[in-house]
Amino acid sequence: DGLNTRAVAAGKLYFGSATDNPELTDSAYVAGLSNTADFGQITPGNSMKWDTIEPSRGTFSYTKGDVIADLAAKNGQYLRCHTLVWHNQLPSWVTNGGFDNATLISILKNHITNEVTHYKGKCLHWDVVNEALNEDGTYRSNVFYNTIGPSYLPIAFAAAAAADPSAKLYYNDYNIEAPGAKSTSAQNIVKLIQSYGAKIDGVGLQAHLIVGSTGSESVSAWTTNLNAFVSLGVDVAITELDARTTTPATAAAVTQQAKDYATVVQGCKAVARCVGITIWDYTDKYSWIPGVFAGQGDALPWDSNLNKKAEVYNAILNAWGTG
Ligand code: G3I
Repeated sequence: DGLNTRAVAAGKLYFGSATDNPELTDSAYVAGLSNTADFGQITPGNSMKWDTIEPSRGTFSYTKGDVIADLAAKNGQYLRCHTLVWHNQLPSWVTNGGFDNATLISILKNHITNEVTHYKGKCLHWDVVNEALNEDGTYRSNVFYNTIGPSYLPIAFAAAAAADPSAKLYYNDYNIEAPGAKSTSAQNIVKLIQSYGAKIDGVGLQAHLIVGSTGSESVSAWTTNLNAFVSLGVDVAITELDARTTTPATAAAVTQQAKDYATVVQGCKAVARCVGITIWDYTDKYSWIPGVFAGQGDALPWDSNLNKKAEVYNAILNAWGTG
């Protein structure tokens, strides 16, 4: 019995975790990650991003990504492949290359075709484009948008579909967990891609939550928002869930955090086309949060000593229920 077996019993494909190459020298950590009762899916936190995969033009380096893909295969876990097109962790040869429209389109297609072909048959999902939107729902300024315009999105999805027709292709973003301008714009991205005749299979809601804050108020807000995507004919997945608080977390914060996790799980459970939930690593030992938000963290169901936080873990189990 565990987080993944309960998710599967509830009709989902998986409950999973992100991971990263440096952590894989920690054998206790790897044992926890590889326990398929809890984790039926993994996502590489960094090693399939553009700066790792194509650090200079036309030079592809798959060593680190392959380590994560091989671990998933060895454990019998699904792999969510993350991410092909993002403004961050994008090498400066792309950002500052001064390429014209036609050249940047060919660079974009070449990157996607090469990487998706390399991992063909191994990725349950691809996060094709990540974080294309600003908080107000306008398009984020990045080299692809500024050079190619919004059509960079359908171009990217079409290239990915051609290279691996069986991978499910996702648009992935944060702060789209509740109804609002950014969620509406993410829905418009789905329509844009469809209007070009390109394939999009799903939307990933990252869900980097703040304990007791937006994104975890109610199950009905979750289901309303998820159903707005589903009504466009796509699946949804919770792709990077965590819930941060001021460290060290108080007992009251942990109680609220347990409720927040349960709310997300209940929201996904209630929507048939919500296919699974991924936490953005499973232990506070390796969370990205303290490095970015000073004084914040304690966001995951396992503490920094790899011990389960019983209240949070059990809240997730109970939210999945027993089938
Ligand atoms: O690889 C270098 C290493 O050589 C160097 O010694 C070290 C010193 O700081 O930095 C290492 O790079 C770090 C990299 O992770 C790999 O560990 C970067 O500084 C660090 O900024 C980077 O953070 C990652 C972050 O994306 C970058 O934006 C996090 O690990 C990763 O969890 C995070 O993941 C993102 C998702 O992809 C998209 N959604 C948001 C999420 C959280 O920010």
